Order: sequence, then structure tokens, then C-alpha cells
Amino acid sequence: MAQQPAFDQKSIDRFLTIELARATERAAVAAARLRGRGDEMAADRAAVEAMHEELARLPVRGRVAIGEGEREAEPLLYVGEEIGAAAGPNYDLAVAPIEGATLCAKDMSGCVSIAAAATAGALLHAPDAYMDKIAVGPGYPDGVVDLDREPAENILALAEAKGVAPGEITVCILDRPRHAQLISKCRKAGACVRLISDGDVAGIIFTTDPAETGVDMYLGRGGASEGVLAAAVLRCAGGQMQGRLVLETGEQMARAARHGITDPRKKYGVREMVSGDVVVCVTGVTDGPLVDGVFFGKGFIRTETLVYRSATGTVRCIGARRRVSGGD
Ligand code: FBP
Repeated sequence: MAQQPAFDQKSIDRFLTIELARATERAAVAAARLRGRGDEMAADRAAVEAMHEELARLPVRGRVAIGEGEREAEPLLYVGEEIGAAAGPNYDLAVAPIEGATLCAKDMSGCVSIAAAATAGALLHAPDAYMDKIAVGPGYPDGVVDLDREPAENILALAEAKGVAPGEITVCILDRPRHAQLISKCRKAGACVRLISDGDVAGIIFTTDPAETGVDMYLGRGGASEGVLAAAVLRCAGGQMQGRLVLETGEQMARAARHGITDPRKKYGVREMVSGDVVVCVTGVTDGPLVDGVFFGKGFIRTETLVYRSATGTVRCIGARRRVSGGD
């Protein structure tokens, strides 16, 4: 009898690049059907259900480390949910079936679907809280920017390292009232500020390819889970990021403690948020500078997905064209 091939973790990581892409593709298509309908919740639900179905087929024992929320509140993809074909090695999953649901509801640029699979135990279990973040792309000396420095210092240091004037640095920031001072400090330092209305994972990924996106640095406060997802991409594509949880109330501190966070003021680097190998897939829901959104053609649907793998640093762009009759 022919011997069954034995697959080690390395080979499984390779399969995951396509299996995980299936999950973000399905979620993106489901969400894209609801683009511009003004209903974030419906788009989110559709994406979650589609991704859940596909993740259930993963050839691993997956456990959701970053997901839709607490088990009590979320029926699918809640933190702690075990998902996958229940065979093979253990993986931690970080998912955002739709990142920037408002962008989808308003049919605005930059909405994506994201999933990451990492060696079990490798992902920071971020609580439901904000995180202060700073990120730059690959190719700069370690510590070129720091979360605890003034924006002007970071802009100047980055400009020097890039060999340009501060006026040629573009900083991406979420357009929120809480960032008014930050935005004004960056502008005073001479930088161009690219405001985004939602989707700071994409905002951070932009820094990995400034030639394409025009973004050199990301700054500001956004979701902590999104911070870990962005760190997963930087772990693969290169770049530096620091994140600090914003834990202001006793309840938030207690929640963080339940996630194993003992130092609430800790400044996390990429390798502390993602401490092992990881595969990340990002599929466009709406068009953006990173990836194209889902295109519904006559009898076919086209998706575009970026697949990042930390073990090799490979970034693949997978364009998929599927027949409509074949199902999503
Ligand atoms: P959702 O997809 O959950 O709506 O998150 C979108 C987002 O813009 C994130 O990218 C970002 O981290 C967070 O919301 C910012 O939160 P807030 O809207 O409260 O400023």
C-alpha cells in the first residue's frame, strides 16, 4: 500500500497560503455584494458567515486568537473558537472578515478582508481596546521612529533615513477628532498628512510599499486587534511597528489581565505582537491602493488577494476569476 505523505509544519504553511486566501476571498465577495447599501452590520454578518465556512475546512486545528469579539456576544469567529478540520498542527488565527465595514457600506476605497494563521501561541491576545501605533516600512535602521517621541522628531528621523526633506514624508492617520493635535503637529513638521476615514490595518500596510501607496509612516490610535493584524503583515513584509494598549478603566485593565497582559503600559514591537511564523491574506472588498476590490463580471467574479508568508518573506498577489455558477 502506498505510504501517506507526512506533512510537516513548513509544508502546511505552504498549503495555508492558498487555503487562507480562499477564506478572505469568500468573505470579500460576500461583503462586496452589499457594497454601498449603507448597512455595515449586514456586510459584516455576510463576511463573517462566509469566512467561517471556509475556515472550517482549513487542514489544521485553528483557534481564534483575534476575532469578532467575546464568546458571549458573538456566535461565530469569537475569541477562543476552535475551527478547522481538527487535524494537523495547532494554529492561532487572527481574522477581520471585513476591515473597515463603514467603507463597504459607503462603497468607499480601502475596505479589505484579512485572515492570519500563526504558530500556536504566537499572537498577542489583544483585548477589545484601543492601541497607540506607529509604523514604518522596511529598509530603515532599527528604532528610526519611536512611539514615545514627538511626531516632528519621528518625521525628521525618517526623512533623514530616507534621504529626503521632511516635506517629502507622508504620514497616514485615521481622521478622528482625537487625532486633531497629532495631525496639526505632523503638518507643522512639514509632512503631508494622508487622512483615512477607516481601516488602519490597510493604513499600516501602506507603509510597506511607499513607492506604490505614497505612505511613509502610520501614526495614531486605533483598534488593538487591528494592531496585531497589521503587525502580522509587517512581520512578513518587513518594517517596524510599535503599539501600546490604551487601558484607561478598571474594566479594561481586568479584561487585559484575562488576556494574560500583566504590564498595561508595555510598548509592543512587531515580534512581541507576532512571535512566530505567520501567513496573512488580504483580499480587497472595495478598490484601494493595495488591492483591487471584488469585480462582478458577466458570469464571473474576480478577486485580488495579497498573500504574505513570514518564513520566506514572499508576497504573492493572487488574482482569482471564478464562474458565478460555481458558487462563491
Ligand atoms: P471596523 O471594520 O470594525 O469598523 O473597524 C474599522 C476601524 O477603522 C479600524 O481599522 C480601526 O482600528 C478602528 O476602526 C478605529 O476605531 P474608531 O472608529 O473607534 O476610531
